[in-house]
Amino acid sequence: MSEKIEEIEIQLLLEALHLRYHYDFRNYAPASIKRRLRLACEQMGFASLSALQDSLLHDPQMLARLLGYLTVQVSEMFRDPSYFRAIREKVVPHLKTYPSLKVWVAGCSEGEELYALVILFREEGLEERTLFYATDINQEALAKAQAGIFALDRMQLFTENHRKSGGKSSLSDYYSAAYGYASFDKTLRQRVVFADHSLTTDAVFGEMHLISCRNVMIYFDRVLQDRVVGLFRDSLARKGFLGLGAKETLRFSDHASSFADFVCEEKIYQRCSE
Ligand SMILES: C[S@@+](CC[C@H](N)C(=O)[O-])C[C@H]1O[C@@H](n2cnc3c(N)ncnc32)[C@H](O)[C@@H]1O
Repeated sequence: MSEKIEEIEIQLLLEALHLRYHYDFRNYAPASIKRRLRLACEQMGFASLSALQDSLLHDPQMLARLLGYLTVQVSEMFRDPSYFRAIREKVVPHLKTYPSLKVWVAGCSEGEELYALVILFREEGLEERTLFYATDINQEALAKAQAGIFALDRMQLFTENHRKSGGKSSLSDYYSAAYGYASFDKTLRQRVVFADHSLTTDAVFGEMHLISCRNVMIYFDRVLQDRVVGLFRDSLARKGFLGLGAKETLRFSDHASSFADFVCEEKIYQRCSE
């Protein structure tokens, strides 16, 4: 019985979040949402999800706190280096044939994946012809991405990942270190547009040549995954690339026929021309 009540409370809370603030988590994977809401309830000291919902409705400051629980900000620069190696060795040669490029990092978190791609594009001589879009629903994460400051003790892992991804320079060329932080060169952001954009509710971005969206759709249910893949299909230029990374696949998507496998192991797809 209490399980059933909790399910009702979750449904009502997600509905309230949507009606009050237009954040739509109703089609996120239920098990993960339940876990996260339980944790939020416990750590913020609410007796029940209904009490949390009441606070959320009446106190706008609760929104950012709850989003901190509902979204996962785990990331690394050059995370899964073989993905970046495949972009460098297999996708970049195609991108080099275009005079101008648009790249969308969807669900960019605090910017790790974005900086990795900008650095890779710089190393490959593509940065100057590229416009990057970095989007997320978590505004605190976006603000951190825009600042480009990371804890210095993360640099060892990022450097190692960069090297394994086929990096042609030293990662330390791109940041200055002070007081325990690595501050990334602001020229890396000069061709980046940061935007608060939700994959659940917002519209397409036009004519992208590469969309990288990794470790985001794993939090969505099948219905929402399909919506998002449709959004990506409609946002890609003809023959544009979609990189999902190892944990996601298009295999079961309603839109699978719009894409061809490009690098199977890395879940990099190419939009078919129609
Ligand atoms: C685990 S991080 C992935 C970061 C990076 N892409 C990577 O692979 O390292 C997931 C990100 O997706 C964002 N996110 C969750 N739901 C989203 C949505 N509906 N629209 C856009 N971003 C979303 C979260 O805020 C979070 O920053």
